[in-house]
Amino acid sequence: MAMATPSRALRTALAPLALLSGAKSFRDNPVIGSRRLNRLGLHVGRIRLADAVTAQRRWRLGRRIDPADRRQYAEQGFVIRENLLPPEQFEALRREVYGSAWPRLEMRQGNAITRRVALDRTHLRDSHPQLEALLASREVRDLIRYVAGTGAEPIFSLQAILAGLPSERPDPQATLHADTFHSIAKAWFFLHDVAESEGPFAYVPGSHRMTPERLGWERRQSLEAADHPIPYHARGSFRVGPDDLAAMGLPAPRRFTVKANTLVIADTRGFHGRTASDHPTCRVEIYASLRRNPYLPWNGLDPLALPWVRGRVGSLQLTALERLQQLGLAKMPWKPAGQGPIDAGR
Ligand SMILES: [Fe+2]
Repeated sequence: MAMATPSRALRTALAPLALLSGAKSFRDNPVIGSRRLNRLGLHVGRIRLADAVTAQRRWRLGRRIDPADRRQYAEQGFVIRENLLPPEQFEALRREVYGSAWPRLEMRQGNAITRRVALDRTHLRDSHPQLEALLASREVRDLIRYVAGTGAEPIFSLQAILAGLPSERPDPQATLHADTFHSIAKAWFFLHDVAESEGPFAYVPGSHRMTPERLGWERRQSLEAADHPIPYHARGSFRVGPDDLAAMGLPAPRRFTVKANTLVIADTRGFHGRTASDHPTCRVEIYASLRRNPYLPWNGLDPLALPWVRGRVGSLQLTALERLQQLGLAKMPWKPAGQGPIDAGR
């Protein structure tokens, strides 16, 4: 009989514990993926409990948020801020981003490449003051935290999406999907206008809400997800089709064709995706994400908020991912792509 590898044995032992975390893979976790337990309501129960705990955390975070932004989030699942920076400041920020050579990482998915640079406030302070000021902005951080429903530290990167590249396989992120079962935030601050033909971000307004129709759909997915042929779906990022949206009473996705200097923050447990592009495009943005264990009742006590750590979150996250990969506990999809301009073509 084959012996289980240490990482496999560890994963099996930790499987039930993962129920009280943000773990989401139906394929990799036999408890989360159990058809019997999900028929008894495990998946929907995890959603309901996460939502109850998140609601009280978000309520406390809401005291710092403009009522109009709170309303937009509640109704749509995203917040938009146009003309975020004064024009001179925005131009200075653009010069900092486009005028530098960056240590880049790349991940290819189908016909799209995501190029990313981990941003550390500590290292930007002297060389890129506008960028550092944006990352330190209390307003931006508070909005990201509100949408994520947690007071933890957002992680910022500089990002370019090169879409519409020649490939046999399509971009998997162009299929509408939910990232996970609980609120998380992703934010994009666009450094140039994004036109309809440039593969804009799309989001189904209101799809962050767990209506009875959505919970019914979630339950049905949870019974089949462990064996789903699409790996992303099997790992808990459920794909959704137009018929499903209609059955849940949801509208068509909104495409975020935006002007430069616009910030979009979305709760990506709502249905979203990149719009497919049929010609090569390159979108450059400051990107941030925030996700934390949804079952923690508190907003604070985030190790990433410790003074020494806070300024180095980007590179520390990268190092942690590399270590987890060495231990066989995570896959590192990013490949080093040398030092260079963020928008260099392929
Ligand atoms: Fe996504």
